[in-house]
Amino acid sequence: MSIVIKNQEDIEKMRIAGRLGAEVLDFITPYVKPGVTTAELDRLCHDYMVNVQGTIPAPLNYCPPGYTPYPKSICTSVNHVICHGIPNDKPLKNGDCINIDVTVIKDGYHGDNSRMFMVGEVAPYVSRLAQVTYECMWIGIDLVKPGRRLGDIGAAIQRHAERAGYSVVQEFCGHGVGKRFHEEPQVLHYGTPGTGVELRAGMIFTIEPMINLGKRHIHVMPDGWTVVTKDRKLSAQWEHTVLVTETGYEIMTQSAGTPAKPALLASPVAA
Ligand code: MF3
Ligand code: CO
Ligand code: CO
Repeated sequence: MSIVIKNQEDIEKMRIAGRLGAEVLDFITPYVKPGVTTAELDRLCHDYMVNVQGTIPAPLNYCPPGYTPYPKSICTSVNHVICHGIPNDKPLKNGDCINIDVTVIKDGYHGDNSRMFMVGEVAPYVSRLAQVTYECMWIGIDLVKPGRRLGDIGAAIQRHAERAGYSVVQEFCGHGVGKRFHEEPQVLHYGTPGTGVELRAGMIFTIEPMINLGKRHIHVMPDGWTVVTKDRKLSAQWEHTVLVTETGYEIMTQSAGTPAKPALLASPVAA
């Protein structure tokens, strides 16, 4: 297998799948409140995808080698869950944070994205972790252009996370995405500048850093999916699907509710 360079038709269809994936996150936002269960969020997203959008929830029954089929339609990763949290009947409580990861399939193409949500009022250290992780994702995205290397992106993300006193999860990474959920290349969120795959126009991949408040080490729960921090401290993640264009990048997973580019990177306004 090698890296797929998308043609104009692929790109058009990825734009549609990406927008639909983002719109599921817009749709679910008002429901993320104290008292709701993640199983309820899963049901709401499932029904919206299938009945309103006419999309397929890619996670449902997804079964990579060495795994059992994923049993739900979204991933809900609460507090110390890093990723692949399986929706369940436990209600969210005030002060929790949750990553909701949605991947839709439309017309054979995947749109993969996730956001962090704060449940009620959270402590400042919680929102700070989510904010720095959002900046990490965006620092990576903003470097995307032909000629850049994946190691440049990983290194920049790692630097920003570690300067804030956090650590970067190494066992899971971003990935090429298109007709398949997970394609080459692997997009590591740590690394060495000037190394790794050189970006070319037409590549589409995710950037989805998982950043831990404590140490980077992970533990996989007996369900075979749920990944938690070994030290049980908080973890955060954001994800976009991004196209490499001739001049830079285009974010595929955009909708009316997409959060703005962080102030840290916003273009300076002419005085
Ligand atoms: N959406 C996740 C990603 O960003 C993958 C989830 S696989 C699942 O790559 F089976 F857990 F849904
Ligand atoms: Co992904
Ligand atoms: Co995802």
